[in-house]
Amino acid sequence: MKQRRRKEILHELGLTPIWRSRADSILNEGAPMTIPVDQSIPVATATAPENDDRAARIAKMDWVQLEAAVACCTACPLCQSRTRTVFGVGDEQADWLFIGEGPGAKEDEIGEPFVGQAGKLLDNMLKSIQLQRGDRVYITNIVKCRPPNNRNPEPSEAEQCHPYLARQIVLIKPKLIVALGKIAAQNLLHTSESIANLRGKLHRYSDIPLIVTYHPAYLLRSLSDKAKAWEDLCFAKATMQSLLVQ
Ligand code: URA
Repeated sequence: MKQRRRKEILHELGLTPIWRSRADSILNEGAPMTIPVDQSIPVATATAPENDDRAARIAKMDWVQLEAAVACCTACPLCQSRTRTVFGVGDEQADWLFIGEGPGAKEDEIGEPFVGQAGKLLDNMLKSIQLQRGDRVYITNIVKCRPPNNRNPEPSEAEQCHPYLARQIVLIKPKLIVALGKIAAQNLLHTSESIANLRGKLHRYSDIPLIVTYHPAYLLRSLSDKAKAWEDLCFAKATMQSLLVQ
């Protein structure tokens, strides 16, 4: 990416003057990177319980079947207030999987994740690490229907939706998952730990490395945490680079 465009993006993210994270500079110097692995949190499993017929059926679906199943899902009350389901968008063989919380008003209207204000910031966050929507990147949410008034999804709603997300993850086989915000992180890692405690560590979802950062909508309100999000992105990029050479 041209240096000027990069500067513009970082400026939009509120991240100028430009600085480089230590992980980034170490990596550029070709030295091995030390990744802090969090061992305090149990590994989350993506497999459905044997006795759960619905989850077992979803676990066998291909992309077309899965998208059709989501489109007509009535497993939780969110189906009553949605305009449309928001399945996910991007490269079905992506290395990067970004997971948010749930669709907002604009996403509910259009049917694509992260198309509102938070989505614009997410696109800029992606650009800052030379990524773009759809190119080695897939974006989806914990729940596929909009929670009314943008409230957090209830645990029971996230649980009903989890077989869809679990199947998406199995089909995509991403090298790295980035959990956007507390709700995504807590659901994926089965924890109630704060985002402050979850950031900066390499977690795992099943066997897939997972990194936690702030939700773009939160960053729109909390400018001072944008610098921390930039650190997370650099950490994610350095982690991906180390995974690609393995
Ligand atoms: N917030 C999310 O978590 N997901 C979206 O798709 C949009 C906003």
